[in-house]
Amino acid sequence: MRRLHLSLLATASLLAACSGGSRSSPSTSARAAPLSSNGVNATLRVQSDWKSGYCADVTLENTSAAAVTSWTVVVDLHQSTVTNLWNGTYTTSGSQIAVKPAAGTGTIAAGGSLNAFGFCGNATGSTYLPELVSLVVVGGGGGGTSDFALSANPAGGTLPQGSSGSSTITISRSGYTGSVALTVSGVPAGVTATLDPATTTGTTSTLAVAVSSSAAPGTSTVTVTGTGGGITRAVQLALTVSGNGTSDFALSANPAGGTLPQGASGSSTISIDRSGYTGSVALTVSGAPAGVMATLDPATTTGTTSTLSVAVSSSAAPGTSTLTVTGTGGGITRTAQLALTVSGTQPPTDRVENPFAGASFYVDPQWAAKVRDAATRAGDLSAAVTRVASQPSAFWLDRIAAIDGTSTSLGLAGHLDEALKQQATKGAGPMVVAMIVYDLPDRDCAAFASNGELHTSQNGLARYKAEYIDRIVQVLQSKPAYQQLRIVAVVEPDSLPNIVTNTGLYSTCAAAAPTYREGVAYAVKQLATLSNVYLYLDIAHSAWLGWEHPDHAATVYNEVLTAAGGADLVRGFATNVANYSALQEPFNPYDNQNQYNDLIVNFFEWNRMIDEATYVNAMRARFPNHHFIIDTGRSGWPARAAGLPIENRTHRGNWCNVTGAGIGERPRADPVAGVDAYYWLKPPGESDGTSDSTQTTPDAEGKRYDPMCGANPVERPYATGELIATDALQGAPPAGHWFEEQFFMLVRNATPAL
Ligand code: BGC
Repeated sequence: MRRLHLSLLATASLLAACSGGSRSSPSTSARAAPLSSNGVNATLRVQSDWKSGYCADVTLENTSAAAVTSWTVVVDLHQSTVTNLWNGTYTTSGSQIAVKPAAGTGTIAAGGSLNAFGFCGNATGSTYLPELVSLVVVGGGGGGTSDFALSANPAGGTLPQGSSGSSTITISRSGYTGSVALTVSGVPAGVTATLDPATTTGTTSTLAVAVSSSAAPGTSTVTVTGTGGGITRAVQLALTVSGNGTSDFALSANPAGGTLPQGASGSSTISIDRSGYTGSVALTVSGAPAGVMATLDPATTTGTTSTLSVAVSSSAAPGTSTLTVTGTGGGITRTAQLALTVSGTQPPTDRVENPFAGASFYVDPQWAAKVRDAATRAGDLSAAVTRVASQPSAFWLDRIAAIDGTSTSLGLAGHLDEALKQQATKGAGPMVVAMIVYDLPDRDCAAFASNGELHTSQNGLARYKAEYIDRIVQVLQSKPAYQQLRIVAVVEPDSLPNIVTNTGLYSTCAAAAPTYREGVAYAVKQLATLSNVYLYLDIAHSAWLGWEHPDHAATVYNEVLTAAGGADLVRGFATNVANYSALQEPFNPYDNQNQYNDLIVNFFEWNRMIDEATYVNAMRARFPNHHFIIDTGRSGWPARAAGLPIENRTHRGNWCNVTGAGIGERPRADPVAGVDAYYWLKPPGESDGTSDSTQTTPDAEGKRYDPMCGANPVERPYATGELIATDALQGAPPAGHWFEEQFFMLVRNATPAL
């Protein structure tokens, strides 16, 4: 109403101005009544009007008892533009200008008046005469400012879908008497909010809120903003839309979760429990872990059920995840959650007992080629060397790059393809492929010779899992034909033994222990999912975990196996990997301790595990359901004089390229009770570590010098000061590299002879 009244007045003044017809007769503007604020009156006078333009001025009269220090006058230019304005500065907003005093001209003493500013304009339409809109003063009146504030009552609330409500917006004015334009923002979809009146010089307006039945339940902040006289004020209301119980739905899942083994699939019925809402519901599922596929059928329905199908690939990681089914429709969003557990192991379907039994064994063609090549330089040993070339041995996946290989070196798939060829030439019976899993972060924590490429401090454990173990699993699954091979995997030499005996002796081992535990558990868990993989954990050898350690070892191994998902995920344990302990001593000195006191004290150091046979029996007692492999690649010690052990190293802790050792028993299945095989797990001829004492920083493969591989004696463990010869053959290349001199020594000393 007020707006209409104003425009009528404007028209009237235009008519009056037209009939006046004279440029010389000054007239006040349409806004004859002055604006007031805080005791200050503003008056606009049109001083001249020549139809295509005008000049006007504004005076301010301070009727209050306090001085005015500044002011803002808003003028609506309607259909005109300012050509020039004096005594003030102004900014333009739409058809309005807000004028402030030019520097130094703003003050009006109490009771004083001011010819505030003047301006001229050009008409751009027929309604061209200017009009006062608002006045804001600083000072005047009781000394307060011209302002207003907004408040809402109620300041929010809950409205069910399909309902409406209102709130009173109060404009508390202090000095400012002009009109306030109100707007509302932040209104969520499906909700309408209107203000009546939307512009007022009064003190209230009503905010009406209507919530449609499709508005999504939830809370939003609705903002009412008032602007006037260059002032902007706002008030916020919290609006909660609730489901109305008459138009809603809920989701539920039956079953609400469960366990699926890798490679299996299952389903759950998703029910849409409708209350009032009859529209279609679009369903999605989220939270499925890698390797798990979850689909909904139908994905959109006006009905009441959908089927969630879940397919778990054999490479999905065991563990529990939450699947969330989300339904949306009519602006309503509802969810149902399911707990999905992928169980660790696909029950072994075609796993045999002893994988070596009745099988032929894969001969690593690359190692065999080195052996055959060495035969050309072997002189009198060449026939024996040539016989070695047809022997099986394990290959070591000693770094990530070894899995994929290169154009000149076989990766895992290359070995498996070669194995399939060898299998074909042997009449297609079962074939064993033996490999060593050896890439734990910070590996070999008690020595330097081969600490490897991964480090816990550099995200090594995550890389070990993702780039190493997962990749091995992937390759093993990459061709159906590989399923015919019996894969024997010996897991992480030296890792758990270092936890058993060395965390108190080496800070590197204490630091690495958690990584070893988690890494080995992960390797077992993942590799055990393949039914043609037979796992053996490295369990050191008689001269390492002998003494009082077997019980402690059993505890550590059981803990790690429990973490992996159970002790029966592994077939057993591998002893003597890459070591030189004798398989079987010809006599037991403890049977006649008086006679062999020296030997017991100085060589065996009171360790009753005098050889691998004794050690394996001790371990079998702790793991009666498990089986053993003994690495006999370098356990063949030539016979010595009666009364001397055949194991002829200076100290049983010596482990690097030991002088005097020979190739031991040939690989074969079921040699003695509890032992699945004697096997060459460390291929004879591959070095244990460089003897070059200048190689003190790790090379690209993480290999470096360890004093145990050097020429000088080293201190006996636990006995300060006493130096012992290392027995290490000199001229040795880094760990894993071909060391021909050592190879010829091993062939020469082979026991039994080749
Ligand atoms: C080395 C490996 C090597 C393995 C077999 C280990 O001592 O660190 O790189 O593959 O021996 O020779």
